[in-house]
Amino acid sequence: MASEALLQKLNEQITHELGAEMQYLAMSFWFERENLQGMAKWFLAQAVEEHEHAMKIVTFLNEWDLPITLVSPPNPTHDFAHAEAVFEAALGHEQRVTSQITDIFKLAREESAWHIEVAFQWFITEQVEEEVNARDNLAKIRMVGDNPAALLEFDRHLGQLAE
Ligand SMILES: [Fe+2]
Ligand SMILES: [Fe+2]
Repeated sequence: MASEALLQKLNEQITHELGAEMQYLAMSFWFERENLQGMAKWFLAQAVEEHEHAMKIVTFLNEWDLPITLVSPPNPTHDFAHAEAVFEAALGHEQRVTSQITDIFKLAREESAWHIEVAFQWFITEQVEEEVNARDNLAKIRMVGDNPAALLEFDRHLGQLAE
């Protein structure tokens, strides 16, 4: 069904997704304090998505009759020097998740655990979208630079996307 190593990675991925949820919540709170409510809303929506990712893996493990052991994620980072640093951290985070998902996919293929491989195709597609968004946001916040009007416009834009 699945090796111990693969089972461990699947369980760890639940923690990674819950960790992402907490990190994005902390980023949302940071933007709230900066009076950038659109960005706060965007990161809140990302946090909800990460929770859904964790629960998707929980559902898979239940369906496959595999045991779930919950491990707490590390504390999120709450302090950022500026908005660009938040978007940089978000991109770095998504890139790490992509490599975690790829590891699971590879291991599933090695073990001929086709049900797991097929299930994780969804996550691979999702990570492409997550990285595209994170890169796009980072590029845009860099264009904004020190221009408050552009910052407010980008804030409004992200807030609308999160609706
Ligand atoms: Fe995720
Ligand atoms: Fe994500």
